[in-house]
Amino acid sequence: MLGSLKPRPATAPQQADEAVGRLRRPQLIGRSLDGAAPDGVFMMTLDLDESVAQAMETDVRLLPLLPELLTDLWELGPSAEQVVAALESVGVEPDSTVLDLACGKGAVAVALAEQLGVRVEGIDAFQPFLQAARALATERGVSHRCRFEQGDIRNLLGQEEQYDVALLLSVGPVLGDYEQTIAGLRRLVRAGGYIVIEDGFLADGVAHLPLAEEYAGHSETLRRLTACGDVVAQEVICPTEQARSVNQRNTDLIRQRASLVRASHPAFEQLIDEYVARQERETQILGTDVLCAIWVLRRA
Ligand SMILES: C[S@@+](CC[C@H](N)C(=O)[O-])C[C@H]1O[C@@H](n2cnc3c(N)ncnc32)[C@H](O)[C@@H]1O
Repeated sequence: MLGSLKPRPATAPQQADEAVGRLRRPQLIGRSLDGAAPDGVFMMTLDLDESVAQAMETDVRLLPLLPELLTDLWELGPSAEQVVAALESVGVEPDSTVLDLACGKGAVAVALAEQLGVRVEGIDAFQPFLQAARALATERGVSHRCRFEQGDIRNLLGQEEQYDVALLLSVGPVLGDYEQTIAGLRRLVRAGGYIVIEDGFLADGVAHLPLAEEYAGHSETLRRLTACGDVVAQEVICPTEQARSVNQRNTDLIRQRASLVRASHPAFEQLIDEYVARQERETQILGTDVLCAIWVLRRA
């Protein structure tokens, strides 16, 4: 679960946007003003930069190096196999339409297209991840079932189209708190369709965590998720040992890659070290104080 251990804001998405707009932003190295991609570094609007950096738990100045730091990881959120199994268990049919919001490198989208025969539209803000997602779909022979487009998921909530399934996996509070997030996702899903969320909740006996102030215990999390009347059709709680070993392996891969990236970009040394340290801290609490779960909600 890279990227979702963070406080959920109390503001609505639009208000959050405005708040972000008032922030003084760091200069981004290697960026041109016209959206071109010098040296393979992709340009995005600053608001999207902030959103991506927040979801990826990194400093916005490190974004140009993020693709390199994450070279060895396909899954930036939950296990694709677990999401496939969860949707299979509720009977999602071939040719169902799936919207994968903030799809990252497309690991889940491609696995769903491959194994369940669904049609997936993946939206993400970060162009290098989208390029990786398209390449993965082609490699797996499902590019005709997958479409990956760049976009800001905060702008999708008002659209008319309704999908059979919407996924929001390991994205954190980009769309607001749980109530705001679910209310927004419900507009994108037909009645009887599914909303799939992957996130964390506090383990029994853990009342408060500095890195995850807004996480709640299990029953309160379920209350928030179902506040609009939807039903939990499936819940997959990632087993503690599995969560620990997956996160440990991912952190090891990031740390190894970071030493190469640091050598070729010495000016970023401190930012890279902070990023790795944050991943390591997260690994310590995931699976113990914070448990990860995939919730499949049937939309009322
Ligand atoms: C931790 S990754 C999870 C990726 C994917 N859901 C998965 O499970 O592998 C978070 C993703 O959110 C994307 N993101 C963050 N803010 C976004 C926004 N406002 N619109 C679109 N994508 C966004 C990032 O680019 C990144 O790919």
